[in-house]
Amino acid sequence: MNLEDRVVASFDGAKDERFREIATSLVRHLHAFLADVQLTEDEWATAIDFLTRTGQLCDDKRQEFILLSDVLGASMAVIDINHPTGGRELASGPSTRAATESTVLGPFFVAGAPEFALGDDISGGAPGTPCHLSGTVTNTAGEPVPGAVLEIWQSDEDGRYDVQYADLDHARGRGRLRADGAGRYAFWSVHPEAYPIPDDGPVGELLAAAGRGPMRPAHVHFMVSAPGYRTLVTHVFTADSAHLDDDAVFGVKRPLIVDFERHEPCRAPDGRELAEPFHTARFDIVLAADR
Ligand code: BEZ
Ligand code: FE
Repeated sequence: MNLEDRVVASFDGAKDERFREIATSLVRHLHAFLADVQLTEDEWATAIDFLTRTGQLCDDKRQEFILLSDVLGASMAVIDINHPTGGRELASGPSTRAATESTVLGPFFVAGAPEFALGDDISGGAPGTPCHLSGTVTNTAGEPVPGAVLEIWQSDEDGRYDVQYADLDHARGRGRLRADGAGRYAFWSVHPEAYPIPDDGPVGELLAAAGRGPMRPAHVHFMVSAPGYRTLVTHVFTADSAHLDDDAVFGVKRPLIVDFERHEPCRAPDGRELAEPFHTARFDIVLAADR
């Protein structure tokens, strides 16, 4: 038996069949990769050093391994495997629709965000142009999902999240809402802006070595949950943002790109009179049944 076959055979006694399947497939791909690139010992040492430093940067605030998974497209690949939207099968039915596409969670979600009523302003004083976001939460049959919980978080006009300000002691651009009896939601916040992912560690070195940028296009994060439905983790991207085509983490999906219409001072859709320019956008959300 050659080396690769002997390593694979060493997992024969594994009690957990799924573990054996994953471990042996990993060994096969790893050995094929090493042979493919004819890895040198110096390159092996560089890789070990890179992975060591990636791990050393991880703590309860920073997860450099998830960031590495994000920039390698592995996070999006796992999302695509586990969150099919049913778009193709459902397209033929008259009253059915595809579930909303999922995308990366990212490092800036914080559990326990402040609760708001529908129509409230969740900006918390974040700098930026006012922005009204509204839509519905329905299921794939087009029926409303009353009481769906929406967790929202986003960057401000400087492309920063509240948790990136060392001196800030309250949430900004972050909140939790409940859809009404007809599945409708609405809130005010500020227009989000594009921003760089944390690039001062090994992942930043990898991007620089590849000649890649760290930027993400402007977006608002949503996590939407309701009993009987799969929790949806997604974003809505602004259609006019830079970096829609070179998102550092490959998180953009076409159906998630929406026009954020700009208005000069006037009466907003919810009746509020604005003395400054503002944006409005509509993002309808479709939840998949929890199977
Ligand atoms: C974000 O959208 O917040 C994000 C996602 C992946 C990596 C870094 C940031
Ligand atoms: Fe983000």
